[in-house]
Amino acid sequence: MTTLYQEHLNALINRYENAMAHFGLDAIVLASGEKSYYFQDDHAHPYHAYSGAQQWLPFSLGAETYIVLKASEKPTLIWPIRDDFWHAPNPVPNGDWQQGWNIITAKKTDKWFIDLPKRTAWLGPQAMPFAVACDGLKAYVDFAKAVKTDFEIKAMRQASVRGAAGHTAAKEAFLAGMSELEIHLAFLTASQQSAFQEPYPGIVGLDEHAAVLHYEHKSIEQVTNSRTLLIDAGANEHGYASDITRTFTRHNDDFNALIKDLDTMEQQLCRSAISGVNFKDLHQDTLAGIATLLFEHKICTLSVEEQLAKQIPQVFFPHGLGHLLGLQVHDVGGHQIDKSGTLSKPDDSAPFLRLTRTLEKNMVITIEPGLYFIPMLIEKMQAEVSNHGCDMARIQHFLPYGGIRIEDNVVVKNDLPVNLTRETGLT
Ligand code: GLY
Ligand code: MN
Ligand code: MN
Repeated sequence: MTTLYQEHLNALINRYENAMAHFGLDAIVLASGEKSYYFQDDHAHPYHAYSGAQQWLPFSLGAETYIVLKASEKPTLIWPIRDDFWHAPNPVPNGDWQQGWNIITAKKTDKWFIDLPKRTAWLGPQAMPFAVACDGLKAYVDFAKAVKTDFEIKAMRQASVRGAAGHTAAKEAFLAGMSELEIHLAFLTASQQSAFQEPYPGIVGLDEHAAVLHYEHKSIEQVTNSRTLLIDAGANEHGYASDITRTFTRHNDDFNALIKDLDTMEQQLCRSAISGVNFKDLHQDTLAGIATLLFEHKICTLSVEEQLAKQIPQVFFPHGLGHLLGLQVHDVGGHQIDKSGTLSKPDDSAPFLRLTRTLEKNMVITIEPGLYFIPMLIEKMQAEVSNHGCDMARIQHFLPYGGIRIEDNVVVKNDLPVNLTRETGLT
C-alpha cells in the first residue's frame, strides 16, 4: 500500500521532472539554507528551512541540507553530519520515508557537488557558482504549491489541532485577567512549541492593541478587566502552518454582538470557498458584508451601495480577506495565475489582497475578515470623505475595544469546503 507520503513524493518528483524537461535542465538542487547570525555576534537568527526544500521531507529540515533531483532517478538527500562536542548529534531520521531516497551523509568539507551535471539549476539561498540561471523555474514550481497533496493537508490538520489547543488556553488566560505576555505563554504551552517554532510571531493584543494589525509587542502589564483579546497565532507540523485568529470579549455587550455577527459572516465566507470562485470576488462580497454590519450596528447610516462607492468598509477592514497557506504562512504564488508567472495584481479597491486566483480543489486558504477601530484611518476618513455617514459618538464608544478579526483555515472543495479550524472544535 502506498502511504500518503509516498504519493506526495511521487507528485513532487513528477512536478520537478516536468520542470526539468520544460527548461532543458539535467538536475535541480534544492538547498535548505545556512544559519545566519546577528551582526558581529555569534548568536544565530531563528532558523527556518527554505520551503521548497522542506516540502520534500516529513520532518523539520535543518540547515545545510540539500536535495538533488535528476530525471528518472530517485531523489538524493545530502544530509549534513555534525560531529562536534558542542551540539547534539543529528542522525538521519529512521522511517519508511527512506525508501524513496538515495541518502548521502556529508561533512561540511565534503565536495558532494563536484559531479553534478552541466545544466544544474539551484533553488534556495546561497546558490553555488556552477548553477545555471533558470528564469522562470521558481514561478513554475511555485504555481503548483497552492494545491496541496493529501499528505500536506494531513500536516495542516495537525497544525490546526495544536493551534486550536493554544487558542482555548489563551481565552482562559484572558478571562483570568492575564497580561499579553502571559496569554502568549499560555498559548505556546498548550500548542507545544517555543516562540521560535511559531509559524509567525503570535499577535496577542488586549483592548486598543487589537486595532494594530501586526501588533508584535507582548506587554507584561496586567490589565484589570481588559475588554478585548485579539489573538492571531498558529502552530506548525514539519513546516506546514496553521494561521488562526479569534477575538474574545469579557461582557455580553454591543461589541460582543458585533463579534457574533462578524463570526456568522466569516463562517458563511468559509462555506463559499469552492472551486471556480475567484478570490477577488469573495473579497468584494466581504466589503459588502462589512458595510451591512456597519449599517446594522449603527456605525454608519449610509446604504451598502453608498458605503462601497465611498470606500467606507475599507476604513474598518483595510486588509485582504485571506491568502494561500502552506509551508509559508503567506504561501507563494497568490498573485500568480499560471506556471509561467503571469501576475494578477489586486485593484485599487483592495491593494493588500494577497490572493487573486480562482480557487481550485485542495487549495488551502485563510478566510480572515476583520472590523477594527483604527484611529489613523478614522481620522483620514473624517478629513477626506464628505458625508461619510459615520456616527462619531458610536465610534468613540468602540475605540477602546480595538477591533475584531476571525480567521479560519479552509481546504477548498468542489462543493462543501473543509474548515480545518472549526473541525478541531474551536468555536
Ligand atoms: N498572521 C498573519 C496573517 O493572518 O496573515
Ligand atoms: Mn493570522
Ligand atoms: Mn492569515
